[in-house]
Amino acid sequence: MNLTGYKIRTATEQDIDFLWEMLYQAIFIAEGDVKPSREILNQPDLSKYVSNWGRQGDIALIATDSSENPVGAIWSRLFDETNKTYGFIDKNTPVLSMAVLPEYRGLGLGTLLLNEMIRTAKDSGFTSLSLSVDPNNPALRLYERQGFVKVGIDGTSWDMMTTLENK
Ligand SMILES: CC(C)(COP(=O)(O)OP(=O)(O)OC[C@H]1O[C@@H](n2cnc3c(N)ncnc32)[C@H](O)[C@@H]1OP(=O)(O)O)[C@@H](O)C(=O)NCCC(=O)NCCS
Repeated sequence: MNLTGYKIRTATEQDIDFLWEMLYQAIFIAEGDVKPSREILNQPDLSKYVSNWGRQGDIALIATDSSENPVGAIWSRLFDETNKTYGFIDKNTPVLSMAVLPEYRGLGLGTLLLNEMIRTAKDSGFTSLSLSVDPNNPALRLYERQGFVKVGIDGTSWDMMTTLENK
């Protein structure tokens, strides 16, 4: 794996459009299924991952290539009982989302982003992270390697969580 030239940086306001694109890219499409239109991002259960970005507790990291173009992102956000989302565990556990542009997948950027997010979330005082993943998504292996364990099922997706104490 050679990630020379790639970098991870904190997202700025200028990255919000890219986060929306990454949210679209993060939607799991089973083999043979048709990609939904980008209109799907207007659905509240999806838009809540990014809308009004910049709330207390929001963390977003961007992976860039050697020309500093964004090629991937990971972001985490707090939700609560009145505003739950897939992967919600409790109001103190940020819910993770991530994606890498298709042509940059499998290079190690996802691993890098996830490691950096774990470190950043810990440095920010969080003690756990959660996420929702379709068990058929190959990303499941990435999450398991980073210590996420299945804590529930919501429809067909798994809720997964990791604690940050020993990381
Ligand atoms: C999941 C994802 C962010 C990982 O980023 P990446 O840069 O490809 O990851 P890495 O190269 O560091 O790690 C490889 C792991 O990522 C996953 N992965 C690799 N290529 C992938 C692909 N084309 N699609 C989905 N997951 C992939 C696998 O778990 C792989 O582990 P493995 O080598 O044991 O199979 C990226 O593949 C992606 O954007 N996938 C589509 C969006 C998505 O599924 N997001 C997560 C929603 S829960």
